[in-house]
Amino acid sequence: MSGHTTLRSTHIDIDCQWNVWVPRDISAMTNSCVVIPCTFMYPSGIRPYRGIHGIWYFGQPYPQLFPPVVYKSRTDIVHESYKGRTKLLGDLHQRNCTLLISNIGTEHSGRYYFRADLGGANIYTYPDFSELKVLDQPSIDVPEEIVSDESLELTCYAPDNCPDMTPEIQWMYTDYLPDPEFTSDYVEESNTAVLSSTLTFTPRPMHNGQLLGCRVYFPNTTLVYERLISLDIKYAPRSVWVNVSSEVMEGSSVTLHCEVDSNPAPRISWMFGDQELLWDTASNSSLSLDDVTPAQEGVYTCVGDNGYGIMNTSMYLAVKYPPREPVVNSSLTVLEGSSLSLHCSTQGSPAPTLTWLKDGELVGTITAEELSVLEIAAITPQGDGQYRCLAENEHGRASSSLNITVEYAPVFLEESKCTVVREGVQCVCMATGNPEPTIEFYLPDLNITINETDGRYNYYTHTDGHTSTGMIKLREKGDRAGDGVPAVNVHCSITNMYGTESVLLELQQEKKYMMAVIVGTIGGVAVIAFIIAAVRYVGHNNKKENGNPGQDLVSKLENPALYYSAIKKDKQNLRKKVGEDGDFQPVGTLAELEKQELNYAALEFIGARPREGASGRGDDGSDYIEIKAK
Ligand SMILES: *[C@@H]1O[C@H](CO)[C@@H](O)[C@H](O)[C@H]1NC(C)=O
Ligand SMILES: *[C@@H]1O[C@H](CO)[C@@H](O)[C@H](O)[C@H]1NC(C)=O
Ligand SMILES: *[C@@H]1O[C@H](CO)[C@@H](O)[C@H](O)[C@H]1NC(C)=O
Ligand SMILES: *[C@@H]1O[C@H](CO)[C@@H](O)[C@H](O)[C@H]1NC(C)=O
Ligand SMILES: *[C@@H]1O[C@H](CO)[C@@H](O)[C@H](O)[C@H]1NC(C)=O
Ligand SMILES: *[C@@H]1O[C@H](CO)[C@@H](O)[C@H](O)[C@H]1NC(C)=O
Ligand SMILES: *[C@@H]1O[C@H](CO)[C@@H](O)[C@H](O)[C@H]1NC(C)=O
Ligand SMILES: *[C@@H]1O[C@H](CO)[C@@H](O)[C@H](O)[C@H]1NC(C)=O
Ligand SMILES: *[C@@H]1O[C@H](CO)[C@@H](O)[C@H](O)[C@H]1NC(C)=O
Repeated sequence: MSGHTTLRSTHIDIDCQWNVWVPRDISAMTNSCVVIPCTFMYPSGIRPYRGIHGIWYFGQPYPQLFPPVVYKSRTDIVHESYKGRTKLLGDLHQRNCTLLISNIGTEHSGRYYFRADLGGANIYTYPDFSELKVLDQPSIDVPEEIVSDESLELTCYAPDNCPDMTPEIQWMYTDYLPDPEFTSDYVEESNTAVLSSTLTFTPRPMHNGQLLGCRVYFPNTTLVYERLISLDIKYAPRSVWVNVSSEVMEGSSVTLHCEVDSNPAPRISWMFGDQELLWDTASNSSLSLDDVTPAQEGVYTCVGDNGYGIMNTSMYLAVKYPPREPVVNSSLTVLEGSSLSLHCSTQGSPAPTLTWLKDGELVGTITAEELSVLEIAAITPQGDGQYRCLAENEHGRASSSLNITVEYAPVFLEESKCTVVREGVQCVCMATGNPEPTIEFYLPDLNITINETDGRYNYYTHTDGHTSTGMIKLREKGDRAGDGVPAVNVHCSITNMYGTESVLLELQQEKKYMMAVIVGTIGGVAVIAFIIAAVRYVGHNNKKENGNPGQDLVSKLENPALYYSAIKKDKQNLRKKVGEDGDFQPVGTLAELEKQELNYAALEFIGARPREGASGRGDDGSDYIEIKAK
């Protein structure tokens, strides 16, 4: 009983020996029925003895293992689970072993073997079997990968192997599908039949996760079978959500969120410039930044990449901070007249307003720039001081300063003068300069230079900032050269590294004191007489030397009678004290000077004696001498 060949063909080969033809696979819905078509052959030499019988076994071909008997033609004794359910449709004498199983359940799934019993020893179980699948749901063919926007075919199958009932297929939940198409097919193979229905549509990302169903039913019965599937539609990232651009304060913490809509979940990453800060495989990602610094300001991009596509979205993170301490030029010393540009730079967010203050007063503002340049053309001594650059924004302020020292040649201040005081004459010489000038007095008549190193004279000096003051007191006695002439012309010279200036100090007197002296000395009548004479004298001289007024003035000023009269070698050189009204002004004009000199001339000669060497000065002095001699 061995050596037979198993053929899986459906055509009948007469020459074959023990052979059976059954469908290898057959399926049926639960509670319906199935007909397993079957034909068999036995060796032609065998003469069946007392007819042909057959047995269907379930599970095992070997009777020794007592497999459940599905059907047995000799008796009605079958396994319990097949009782009343099986019927042989075929005629065994026609070698037709076709079996009907009704009202099947899933427990009937398995292998079915046919055993032919021709009498005597000619009993044979064919090794070929039919495998029955009892389905409680239709099956749906779903492609392994469903990609969005690509046409999709889903096929639902219903076995049609029960002659009494013909299945029908319906698709469920297709209302929301865009233009679904349905096509039916019917496939018969190995005497089995399968009905199918194919649904064709183009899925979109929105269909991901939605349900679709296939319903198989047998009309005019209550048998209904349904299968539901959830669509898994792959799609490239179709949105990447990130926070809107935002601002944070330096030093604070911030968390940026990103959510990517894609299937499957993307590789989600946060980029800052070219740098990848964080990545994960997830639909969302949070980037936490602690103790944020200005260097972290910039564009943050969230990138989603799931293999089906890549997408990114960016946001700008602005980091706010108060201005940094401005960087300014270092302190410097310049010469008057120099031009400078002072730079101030800082950082801050928002961009700070830069303001220049000089000694606390506003001198310039530049808004929303990180560099401010203060241009100073031809700096004056008033430009000396502290320059502060103040940077401000809504988060704070910071400032830096520098000192500018302006150096300049010495100049006289208008306070320089000699005054008659009770004890003699007091001369004050005031000058400004940077470095502060040294002051020296020179008495040409006595050929004496007096400076601070000289202790012999009543010399006093004082320096306050860039202003130097020198003072001497000349007493009639101590300062005489022994000839009875009182202190004479006083020159003051001022010196620093940028130059030297000299001036003959003019004598001024307080009127009250002078009047007292006048009255006390020569009486009221003499005073009037003197004044008249003096005016006449001056008028006469002016007429007489009309041709050359300049010469006249000089000679008059040098007149020996006019003791202590001032000569101003450089009339533009006197200045008011720096800073008093913010500007330098030449003091006095030539005309004013002349007037002053006249006044002095009128008042000065009292008590004076003809000066040594003055005799050689010509006739002009004669009127005076006369008057003085009174
Ligand atoms: C076997 O019997 C069944 C039921 O009567 C019949 O439908 C089928 O056509 C027969 N098969 C062959 C090969 O004659
Ligand atoms: C179902 O039954 C109706 C009458 O009740 C009949 O007209 C129809 O043909 C039957 N359909 C099928 C598939 O048996
Ligand atoms: C970003 O968005 C998330 C969620 O809306 C929010 O919790 C978070 O505060 C936002 N971050 C910023 C910096 O705006
Ligand atoms: C972020 O993703 C995780 C898992 O990846 C998920 O559990 C969570 O719900 C998501 N959060 C949001 C807001 O989508
Ligand atoms: C973001 O996408 C644009 C084009 O869509 C691309 O040019 C750019 O390089 C991407 N940025 C990053 C950080 O991937
Ligand atoms: C101040 O600094 C800037 C930049 O360093 C420079 O260009 C400028 O000349 C400086 N100004 C002075 C007066 O030194
Ligand atoms: C500028 O001078 C003042 C005093 O006049 C001093 O207190 C300050 O420190 C100086 N500033 C600089 C930058 O040298
Ligand atoms: C002044 O005195 C100096 C010495 O102290 C002397 O050299 C000079 O010749 C004198 N000048 C006059 C004009 O007397
Ligand atoms: C003061 O004058 C004397 C000469 O009279 C001179 O040698 C000295 O250097 C002067 N001192 C100053 C501080 O100018």
